Formats: sequence, structure tokens, C-alpha cells
Amino acid sequence: MELQSIEKKSLFEFIKGRKSTRNFIYRKITDATVKEIIECARWAPSVNNNQPWKVNIVIHPTVKQMVAELLEPENAAIVADAYVNYVVFLDLERSKDRVNDLLSIGAFIENMLLCAEAVEGLGAVWIGKIPEQKQKLSELFKINPEKFEPISIISMGAKDTDKPSQSKEERIRRPITDFIDYF
Ligand SMILES: Cc1cc2nc3c(=O)[nH]c(=O)nc-3n(C[C@H](O)[C@H](O)[C@H](O)COP(=O)(O)O)c2cc1C
Repeated sequence: MELQSIEKKSLFEFIKGRKSTRNFIYRKITDATVKEIIECARWAPSVNNNQPWKVNIVIHPTVKQMVAELLEPENAAIVADAYVNYVVFLDLERSKDRVNDLLSIGAFIENMLLCAEAVEGLGAVWIGKIPEQKQKLSELFKINPEKFEPISIISMGAKDTDKPSQSKEERIRRPITDFIDYF
């Protein structure tokens, strides 16, 4: 696993440079790298350090296809092309406060996205549009829906640098003066 030389950039520049990757080329990612992303994610903060996450790692083409078929076409294509899809669940038995636990899952996922970006040539995207498919996802993984709730899928693979994932306009950020106040 070759890391981007972050020391050459500031952490600020690195975070600002992360982009969603939706176009992948096929390149094997080692098991160690697939796991390292989770290793990094698990250091995310969580309420009372309850770590309310569970991750199913989908690499097998058949399973990947089965997951893709549950999604709307745009997201299905991303999932099918990604080398690995991490299906992130909320662990309902660890969860005491849904909103805060979902925020913790968000921190976990952001860590995943940043770590994916840190690996030379890799990119990832957060797929959140799964609400109607939660039951089917649980059935696919034979997971008890009372214990684990599917929240999001993180698709990761080698970036196809010939195909940008979105236009510059789609990545424009609101100026901070739009949403900050000083007191
Ligand atoms: C909770 C959440 C759900 C998202 N769901 C999707 C999705 O279903 N499909 C997709 O292509 N991108 C999805 N995204 C990615 C956003 O579209 C993307 O982060 C945003 O356009 C900003 O672009 P950037 O990630 O390149 O900075 C999601 C992002 C978040 C935070």
C-alpha cells in the first residue's frame, strides 16, 4: 500500500483535495489495504465511545452484483465497478441515542473516505440512497434487521483518472460567510 505523500501537503490541503470517486478502473486492492481502511475508520469518535458500527466487506463479483441490483441505476453502476463495497450498518444493540449514533457512523465513514484518498491511486464515494432497500439488504446478508440497520455503502477502487466523477460546478462549496456567525 503506497500512501500519498501527505507530508508534502498540509492536512488542510489534503482534506480539501478529497473528492468523491465514481469511476473506477479494475485493479486489485490487497486485503491488507481493504482492512487498513477499516483500521483507520475505527478511530473515529463515537458517543461514550460506543462504536456503533458493523461493516460487511463485499468483494465477490456475485455479491457485488446482488447489492448493485438493489440500487438506483447510477449508484448500481458505481457499486458494480468498485473493487470493494463496504456496507456500513448501525449496530442497534450498541445504539442508545439514534441521532448521535448516526453522527458517529458519519465520522467513521468520513475517516474511511479520507483514508481511501490517502492511498495512492484509490478513491471512494459514499452511497446513502439506500432507504427503500434496507430490508432487502438485510435479507441479502441474512442479517437480523432488529440487530443491524444498513446505513450507507462506501464504494472504493482505483480511480479512473480519464473520467472525472463530477463537474467543478457540482463540487462548489458555500462560502463560509453563508453559514457562520460570530458571537
Ligand atoms: C450522506 C451522504 C449520502 C450520499 N449519497 C450519495 C449517493 O447515493 N450517490 C452518490 O453518487 N453520491 C452520494 N454522496 C456523495 C455526495 O454527492 C458528494 O459528497 C457531494 O456531491 C460533494 O462532492 P465531493 O464528495 O466530491 O466533495 C453522498 C454523500 C453523503 C455525505
